[in-house]
Amino acid sequence: MRPIVTERLLLRPLRREDLPAFAAYRSDPDIARYQSWDTPYTAVDAERILGGPVDGDAEPEPGAWRQVAAVDRVTGTLHGDCAVRLLADQPATAEVGVTFARAAQGRGLATEALGAAVSDLFEVQGLHRVFASADDRNRPVQRLLERLGFRREATFLEADWFKGEWTTLLVYAVLAREWREGRR
Ligand SMILES: CC(C)(COP(=O)(O)OP(=O)(O)OC[C@H]1O[C@@H](n2cnc3c(N)ncnc32)[C@H](O)[C@@H]1OP(=O)(O)O)[C@@H](O)C(=O)NCCC(=O)NCCS
Repeated sequence: MRPIVTERLLLRPLRREDLPAFAAYRSDPDIARYQSWDTPYTAVDAERILGGPVDGDAEPEPGAWRQVAAVDRVTGTLHGDCAVRLLADQPATAEVGVTFARAAQGRGLATEALGAAVSDLFEVQGLHRVFASADDRNRPVQRLLERLGFRREATFLEADWFKGEWTTLLVYAVLAREWREGRR
């Protein structure tokens, strides 16, 4: 991927040098609560996400997640990441996610990062639809997706056995034409 520069952030592939900070915020139980991993999240878990002994610059296989680092433009501090997965069974469709360290939250940085990543998917990569799944208790990510103009388009009621309980999943989506309309 080409780096993306926003007002406060640089978005680029996750690299080996990011892994200690990446593992540290993923080890925060509040951050992991609605996410697929458990805590503590170790350096070995973080290594695995790069898919082997190479840095994250290689193009992932269709269907595989790419972790995009969101670093401070000035200091280079890793604040969080966006995750992007191009679907293997639908053309021009991607799923996204976003995770920011607790210290970097509440400043609009995650909205800035995911907004830029989604713009890139539509305007540079020519995608048709981008969607995200959210636990219905995870209000911060719902507010973020709504701020960006995602529609809540599905509720899967107690459909997911997750971390020892049935959970309800919400699906949010935005089409390329809605994205452009929303930014006009
Ligand atoms: C989802 C997550 C990234 C949202 O983080 P966040 O800090 O709430 O999001 P932002 O960085 O966009 O900040 C938005 C908040 O900052 C406030 N804010 C302050 N200054 C701001 C600015 N300059 N611009 C925009 N918002 C600003 C907003 O009002 C908003 O607060 P609100 O939601 O209480 O109204 C974070 O909760 C997280 O990492 N959670 C754990 C991982 C997770 O569950 N991810 C979802 C899986 S897809």
